[in-house]
Amino acid sequence: MVSSMAAYKKHHLRDVALRRLLYVVFITVSGVLLLQFLIGSNSTSNTAPHNLLDEDEDATAYPVRQRQNFQLPQQNDLSLKLEKRNQLPPRNLDLYPTLAKDHIIIVLYVHNRSQYLKVVVDSLSRVVGINETLLIVSHDGYFENMNKIIDGIRFCQVKQIYAPYSPHLFSKSFPGVSPADCEGKDDAREKHCIGNPDQYGHYRSPKIVSLKHHWWWMMNTVWDGLKETRKHSGHILFIEEDHYIFPNAYRNLQVLTSLKSKKCSDCYAANLAPSDVNSRGEGWESLIAERMGNVGYSFNRTVWRKIHKKAREFCFFDDYNWDITMWATVYPSFGSPVYSLRGPRTSAVHFGKCGLHQGQGEKNVCIDKGMVNIQVEEYDKVPNIGSEWEVRVYKNQPGYKAGFKGWGGWGDNRDRHLCLNFAHMYHSVGTASPL
Ligand SMILES: *[C@@H]1O[C@H](CO)[C@@H](O)[C@H](O)[C@H]1NC(C)=O
Ligand SMILES: *[C@@H]1O[C@H](CO)[C@@H](O)[C@H](O)[C@H]1NC(C)=O
Ligand SMILES: *[C@@H]1O[C@H](CO)[C@@H](O)[C@H](O)[C@H]1NC(C)=O
Repeated sequence: MVSSMAAYKKHHLRDVALRRLLYVVFITVSGVLLLQFLIGSNSTSNTAPHNLLDEDEDATAYPVRQRQNFQLPQQNDLSLKLEKRNQLPPRNLDLYPTLAKDHIIIVLYVHNRSQYLKVVVDSLSRVVGINETLLIVSHDGYFENMNKIIDGIRFCQVKQIYAPYSPHLFSKSFPGVSPADCEGKDDAREKHCIGNPDQYGHYRSPKIVSLKHHWWWMMNTVWDGLKETRKHSGHILFIEEDHYIFPNAYRNLQVLTSLKSKKCSDCYAANLAPSDVNSRGEGWESLIAERMGNVGYSFNRTVWRKIHKKAREFCFFDDYNWDITMWATVYPSFGSPVYSLRGPRTSAVHFGKCGLHQGQGEKNVCIDKGMVNIQVEEYDKVPNIGSEWEVRVYKNQPGYKAGFKGWGGWGDNRDRHLCLNFAHMYHSVGTASPL
């Protein structure tokens, strides 16, 4: 009895002691948390400019139309409908609920060549690692047969976006053709038509300007607009509807992007293919740094910010080709050589024969009746880039550069301002782009 009484007392005392201890611990922890909270919020207010910028970018994820002189064209029903669709989440989330930690997003931009698209999508389905990432398909115009092919994709997360101001969506007004527009080499005074001729005296052709508009809209939207991608901190790979992608492309690109800053400080990008679209590579045991190519190029947000800052150069250069515009104006304006890193064997092939580029179209590999004649060897199926390899640099390669005056086709002020507005649409008044 006594002993049990003593035991009770002892227990009781121990309980009290324990409660006191817990109380002290609770107070201490609360104090520390409170202190952390205070310091934390203090430091947030210290970095307010940065955070404000981030919040601002959040708030302007969708077009803000209050900027002075900032006016996008009047949208029709189709344009509005497609813009809404751009906000749908990716498909195949049930199959691939998460993306790998250091995934490289792939953006495929397409127009209406469904035979080509089939070939590209088929090649992508065999790319090792593609199921770790998100594929974005950006459409210039609305074509059911293109959608059908994308609907069939089951090999990764996929999201479709449509350029809402594509000339292909507007049949009676700008950015399509409006009845008052001059055409070809019209005499504006005689015909009382509107438009500005390019440097060769040609008025705008909506079909031709659509490519550059689409590319620029897509770049701005992917980097700064879409909620799935605007916070992406790694690289984004860009491919086109006539690029055949080898099975080793994704793994090779992961190697290249990780080596890029270590091995080549002048490399802004990593490429899947040589800049000479007719080359399959040298087969050496070395990496190659050369001028930026237009097949399977990838870069990160730092580089995008540099490009975005040159919106005016891009939008006012009288050439309807986005790539020639970049070579002739944007890259040279960076003030230092702009190289891209690649492996010695290509991981992507441009097979389109109907490229619009002047003086370039005829030489390309062709596709006939939906059949593409591209040999995929064993070494194209596995990563084939050595991390230990040195970098060989091609200096002074021939090609478009500063001083080229452009092929024209981009003289109309309406096109130039639409282009500039694409660069502003995700940035509100007074928000400077970081970097
Ligand atoms: C689709 O592409 C073909 C060339 O393959 C072209 O002739 C046609 O005009 C395009 N259609 C539209 C609606 O742009
Ligand atoms: C991705 O594909 C590989 C085969 O290439 C497979 O082993 C892996 O399980 C797949 N991962 C997912 C998340 O589906
Ligand atoms: C992006 O790439 C550039 C060029 O390789 C590099 O200098 C920069 O550090 C990279 N930025 C990030 C955030 O990794």
